[in-house]
Amino acid sequence: MEIIIQPTPEAASVIAARLIARLVREKPTAVLGLATGSTPLATYRELIRLHQTEGLDLSAVTTFNLDEYVGLPPEHPQSYHAFMQENLFRHVNIPAARTHIPNGMAKDIPWECARYEDAIRGAGGIDLQLLGIGSDGHIGFNEPTSSLASRTRIKTLTERTRQDNARFFDGDIAQVPMHCVTMGVGTIMESRAVVLLAFGENKAHAIAEACEGPITAMNPASILQMHPTAKTVIDEPASTALRKRDYYRYVFDNKPQWQRV
Ligand code: F6R
Repeated sequence: MEIIIQPTPEAASVIAARLIARLVREKPTAVLGLATGSTPLATYRELIRLHQTEGLDLSAVTTFNLDEYVGLPPEHPQSYHAFMQENLFRHVNIPAARTHIPNGMAKDIPWECARYEDAIRGAGGIDLQLLGIGSDGHIGFNEPTSSLASRTRIKTLTERTRQDNARFFDGDIAQVPMHCVTMGVGTIMESRAVVLLAFGENKAHAIAEACEGPITAMNPASILQMHPTAKTVIDEPASTALRKRDYYRYVFDNKPQWQRV
């Protein structure tokens, strides 16, 4: 796994946005896997800037989001539908019909999960998946002990994740849904490229386990060690528990010109 340590979340997010922009310029019909939460916000701001001031054209792109809460309608301000509208979609030119987010209001959740998997497959698979990581190592909402081969399905959020996310729900954990629909770990692993972002000391332990620990369902992000091209882009505080951080810096600083982002 390539690990890129940057001084600030903003600097890390510029790298993530450049990786996405480079892909879209090379392949205008790229299929992007998108995340929500606080981590990708600066990446989305940079993508919006690239679109608005540097002509980045997203009109042929297709997107698939990782997850959605069960029971929150799209118009609920904390739904991931609303999040994506507010923080990316309404500022760029991705056609609405080509943006996909699981339907957490579906009457038949297993059917919805199978439909979502079919839609990803029908679009030709995901070219680049953007990921955050939970403080417990979850990716998407694949909580610890999730099958590392799992597909899109319903999951029960852990108490810790609901606590972490209560900040978006007026600090009230009781308002945080208990369930979500999430792409599986196996679904994520099929993405042709993966960019995992993590910022802050709160993520340092999860990042160290994901990058340097054993591959284990106890830290679902650790399966990314088996992904051929996964990149982890983090800020200084998120890097503090990594044993080989000096080596990662040395690799990044000495990249051949053609490999630079
Ligand atoms: C969001 C998602 C989650 C978040 C993770 C980190 O779509 O899939 O895995 O990336 O919970 O959340 P933040 O970024 O809010 O710390």
